[in-house]
Amino acid sequence: MSQVFHEIEKKIISVLQKESNLTPEKLENLTQLSADQVRRGIEWLRLKEIAIVNESKIVNISLGKNGLEAYEKGLPEKRLLDLVKNKPKQISELQKQLGSVFGPAMGLAKKNNWIQSKGNKISIIKFPSPFPGEKILKQIGSGTVSKNEIDQKELSVLLKRPEFLIETTTKTREVSLSENAKTLDFSKSESGAIDVEAKAPEVHVARTHPLKDTIDEIREIFVTLGFTEVFGNLAQPSFWNFDALFTPQDHPARELQDTFYLDGLSAKQIGNAEQIRKVSESHKKSWRYYWDINEARKMVLRTHTTCITIKHLAENKPDVARVFSLGRVFRNEKVSYKHLVEFNQIEGVVVGPGANLRNLMGIQREFYKRIGLNKVKFWPTFFPYTEPSLQTMVYNERLGKWVELFGMGIFRQEVTKPLGINKPVLAWGGGIERIAMLKYGLDDVREFYNNDLGWLRSATKCQ
Ligand code: PHE
Repeated sequence: MSQVFHEIEKKIISVLQKESNLTPEKLENLTQLSADQVRRGIEWLRLKEIAIVNESKIVNISLGKNGLEAYEKGLPEKRLLDLVKNKPKQISELQKQLGSVFGPAMGLAKKNNWIQSKGNKISIIKFPSPFPGEKILKQIGSGTVSKNEIDQKELSVLLKRPEFLIETTTKTREVSLSENAKTLDFSKSESGAIDVEAKAPEVHVARTHPLKDTIDEIREIFVTLGFTEVFGNLAQPSFWNFDALFTPQDHPARELQDTFYLDGLSAKQIGNAEQIRKVSESHKKSWRYYWDINEARKMVLRTHTTCITIKHLAENKPDVARVFSLGRVFRNEKVSYKHLVEFNQIEGVVVGPGANLRNLMGIQREFYKRIGLNKVKFWPTFFPYTEPSLQTMVYNERLGKWVELFGMGIFRQEVTKPLGINKPVLAWGGGIERIAMLKYGLDDVREFYNNDLGWLRSATKCQ
């Protein structure tokens, strides 16, 4: 058996090899270990089947109120016999001398035929010696004695008497060695030093992807800010992705190099008749071109999540609302360190009678603060569907430069009016991977999709 033992175990084993059946307290004494060390050592040895622990109950006896009185003054029946042993005495006198114990003393002495009464006098018949019960009273005294060590016959007599004896039960454990441990020899064993630099196996527990963590965190922030999530399909008619957002049909963003069109797929139903008529009128009036419904029917992989929020607003026309949409979007761009053909966006709108640009920037600042980005500024920009339009810039401490994040603005009347939305709508949206890159300090967005186990395992859960 080649086993390595801890110093604590070795000490316990050595002591038990000399003397078995020791309580933990005795082991503490003999090993000079602390109570806690002994307790742990016993458990370790028990697991290794080196030590055997027997648990037993010990009943201890001490004297109760009446027992202590009898210990100090003598047993009541003995005191009675003492009073009458030389000559008979009047009952009334005995009563006076013995007080409250007179009754029990008389009862016992009579029952045992130690006394007899003639008229109102009591005289002795027999004075037993040794006096029953006296021995154990002395034995226990003011201390505690294990029940096993007491004469059982005498004990049963005193146990019956009220408040003479108190029984307390305690559990003890006694430790001994198993057969094969009795011959263990540590005299020539190795030193007990622990190698703290020894290689330990690495444990890789299952975990969520860092990008998923970021998505969950963003979703959580908007929910906490009182927003409700709305959902929609990845494939959308151009109508909702572009036309409803006042993006002219000849806008460069619609061109093939930016948008994935679903080849040959054309939506039969793109909206209700009024929505289609009013959106087309809005385009004709402002952009002055021939609006083609067939162009609006073309199915695309959504290029942004704004199609989901605008459709939700058109269908519900809320006077007050806070909603967000989150999910994949697709852009036919060359993949690079900062562009992917599919990525995730978070998109939000706030509808309310007094909603203004200042509120919009306030919400952005709050969101960025919660995601851990504090150095933020706003920059004017252009989107076909918002006026004014802004771009958030966030300072990347590591790169020492400002990077673009969310786009935002207030939806133009040309967008809201045709769809029957009458209250101002604050809208914003942007890429989630961008935020995750900042959080995880990545310079290349492709890193999220490389499935590099080394990086995935090292990416910390908290920044
Ligand atoms: N849709 C824009 C984008 O994809 C973001 C945006 C959303 C801008 C809402 C303004 C309003 O970048």
